[in-house]
Parts: sequence; structure tokens; C-alpha cells
Amino acid sequence: MGTIEETVEWWKAIVESMNDGVLVIDRAGVVKIINPEYTRITGVTPDIIGKPLISYRPGAKLPETLASGESQVGVYRKTHDREYVVDMAPIFVEGEIVGAVSVCKSLNEVQLLTRELEKQRQKVKELQEQISALHKVRYTFEDIITNDAKMEELISVAKKTAATDLPILIKGESGTGKELFAQAVHHASLGSGKPFIAVNCSAIPSELIENELFGHSEGAFPGASEKGKAGLFEMADGGTLFLDEISDLSIDVQAKLLRVLQEGAIRRIGEAVERKVNVRIVASTHRDLHQFIAKDLFREDLLYRLNAVVLKIPPLRERKADIPFIAESVLKGYEVDREVMTFLTKYDWPGNIRELRNVLDFAMCMANENEQIVIDHLPDIMQKQHRLYEEETKVFPLYEAVEAAERTVLESALQSSGTTVEERQEIANTLGISLATLYNKMKKYNIR
Ligand SMILES: Nc1ncnc2c1ncn2[C@@H]1O[C@H](COP(=O)(O)OP(=O)(O)O)[C@@H](O)[C@H]1O
Ligand SMILES: [Mg+2]
Repeated sequence: MGTIEETVEWWKAIVESMNDGVLVIDRAGVVKIINPEYTRITGVTPDIIGKPLISYRPGAKLPETLASGESQVGVYRKTHDREYVVDMAPIFVEGEIVGAVSVCKSLNEVQLLTRELEKQRQKVKELQEQISALHKVRYTFEDIITNDAKMEELISVAKKTAATDLPILIKGESGTGKELFAQAVHHASLGSGKPFIAVNCSAIPSELIENELFGHSEGAFPGASEKGKAGLFEMADGGTLFLDEISDLSIDVQAKLLRVLQEGAIRRIGEAVERKVNVRIVASTHRDLHQFIAKDLFREDLLYRLNAVVLKIPPLRERKADIPFIAESVLKGYEVDREVMTFLTKYDWPGNIRELRNVLDFAMCMANENEQIVIDHLPDIMQKQHRLYEEETKVFPLYEAVEAAERTVLESALQSSGTTVEERQEIANTLGISLATLYNKMKKYNIR
């Protein structure tokens, strides 16, 4: 090697021919060297040479290296739509920092795709968390109010099976708390952090429900979403799918549901690939599914798939002690007239606890603060019911009851025979009275 100039030329040539972008600053932060690759990657042109880097690129990190004396490796940078990775290092001469060098590599396609994939993964994770948050349950086992031994037993079975992946079938009339149980089971299950998704099988038209449950691929049918759509099975992955009123599923969809339960995988409409799903199934019905099976309206094999655990919730009228128990718990802080409690306990509650809660909510709304809840605070139809009960249990004078009974007996005896004197005599004999008495009583009660 010859002169200093020759040496500098030599190094310059090396830097120029490098496959990595190189930029060098001196101790004052002024740009000394920049190679063509640096320009290609970052868009920074050689007119930066001789100027302080910071004035040209305000976000530059390289000058920090001068101060800290520490290298940084693999720093991701993005300016406009250029993305690259930078290594930065101080330049030491005889133990002193005399400048710093930045070496950058453009991100290649694979790296870019990897980054993009990572971003999308993060997005999917965020969306899943959002779905879970949106589909949180409101109720736990603590919210099931009961003082009934049979109910306590159901709760204990439900608690024991909650943490398994066994399907659960909840039977019971409308308003008995089927969804409440389903939510409580989910809350106590291993997938409680994942979504609880309730599907009302009776509310969704049968031609739409398959699409709701399993989703579809892009352009699967006219009007299908362009990008395809995930079904509720996919949305509930890891959590619980509550199939409410399962008897209302069409036989077609029942067959598809059975396949999903057997294979643990779904296939979107119009798609060939199977997607694994891990979903706990809780189904409910207020119908007698065996009757449905007898009428070919429900698949027997599906029933046997669903009823690993059966919770049969008794109607409220079969656990009357629960009525005052629930009422007192709901009406906490209110005084309740004895007549009200007696009536509530007598009433049949065809709408079960849902109906009871509605009546109680109404009464609390009607009663003023610190006022006792009386019959007048109940909804009109309940007041009407109350009057009917009062009639039924009204005390009659004894003679009225005797006359009513006498009249009924006479009417039915006379109805089934002819009107000749002989026939009338026969009736009198049967009743153990004289013919004259029979005629007298017929006159009295105005019976012909
Ligand atoms: N044992 C109970 N204790 C307290 N609230 C109940 C109970 N059972 C039902 N409920 C309430 O009654 C209403 C109807 O319950 P839900 O679970 O929707 O009934 P179903 O699904 O059987 O029609 C809900 O507001 C629920 O919270
Ligand atoms: Mg319901």
C-alpha cells in the first residue's frame, strides 16, 4: 500500500461495494461517509455528507452511540414506507470514541412477511380477547337462589361436571333458570376465560342457522361475505356454546351438529378443509325430546351425544318453598304484606322464576320508599288472579253450600232420565225422597 490517499481510496472502494448500507459520523455527529446501499435502503442521499446527522434526520439514534459508547444490534427502523434493521457501533481509536458507524440491512421479503404474520397474530389474539370480553357470563352458581333439596342436588351435579368437557343437557320449563345454569357452568369451567356464546335455536330461521353455527368460505353462496365468515363454533373455541331450545333445530342441522360433536372439527359452508374446534356444548330444551324422537323430529343419536349429563330443573310450582325464599331475597329491604306472600306462594307461576322476578320488580317500582308492598302494588293481572283466589276460598253460609250441592245432584239425576211420572218416581226412589219433595225441589231450583 502506498500513500494515505491511496489507502483512503481503498477503504472507500470497499465501503462502496458493500451489500449493507453504511453511514459514518465523526465525534461531533457530522456525517463523514455514506455508501450507495445506504441511500438505496433509507433514501438518504449523499448530500448529507458534511452535515450534522441530527439536523437531517431528527430521530436518528446513532449520535446516542457517541455518548453511551455502546453498540446496538438489530434495531428496527421505519421511515415512510421503508423498513430496515440497523446495527450501530462507536468507533474507537486508541481507546477514545472518534465517531460511530451505522450498518443497515433492508428487510427482505421473508422478514417482512414474518413481521406481518406476527402483527396479524397479535391482532387475532386481540380480537379473541375482545370476543371473550364481549361474551362473558353474568351469572355464577352463587346467583342461583334456592332453598330446595332437589335444586341443591342439581347445583352440586352441575358444579361437579362443570370442569369436565362432558356435554350437558338442561331440561325445564321456560323461566326455570336453564340459561342461568348454563352460564354458571361456563363460569366454573376450564374455558371460563373464553367466550360463552348462546344460540337461540328457535329464534334463528333454519336456513340461516347452519351459516351462523359453522360459517362460510368466501363466495360460498350469493350474498356470502367476500372474505368468508367464522361461525359461532369458531368464535366459541375454547369456551362454551349454549344451544338454547335445541329441539327447534331442523333434522338437517341436527345431522351436521352430530358430525361436529363426533369429530371435534367443523367445516365452513363451501369449504373443503376441516377446522379443529374445542367447544363445550350445553344444550337446553323445554320439550320432551323422547316424544320428538318418536315423531321423527329429533335424532336419537344426537340426544345420546348431548345428554351425558342431564339437569332437570323442576318448575317453581313444584318447589313452592322457593317462592317466599326467592321473593325475600329479591325484595331485600322491602316490607311485604302477609297477604302478598300468601298469594305469591299460592299462585302457579306458569312463567316460573322469570315471571316471579317480573312481578317483584314491578311491585318494587310501584311501592314508594319505606312503604310496605301490598296487593295493590302488583301488576293488574296478578291483582285479578288474587281476586279469583279470594273467591275460591271465600267462606259461604252452610245452607248455601248445601243448596248448591243439592242442585247439582238433582240436575244430573234429572238430566239422564225421561219426564214421565214413572221415571220421576224412580228418580225420587233413587234419591231417597218422596215424589212430592222431588217436585218441590225442582220448583225451588227452577229445574224442568
Ligand atoms: N334460582 C334462581 N335464582 C335467581 N334467579 C333465577 C333463578 N332461576 C331463574 N332466575 C332468573 O329468572 C330469569 C329466567 O331465567 P333463565 O335462565 O333465562 O330461564 P330459562 O332459560 O329456563 O327460560 C333470569 O332473570 C334468571 O336470572
Ligand atoms: Mg331461556
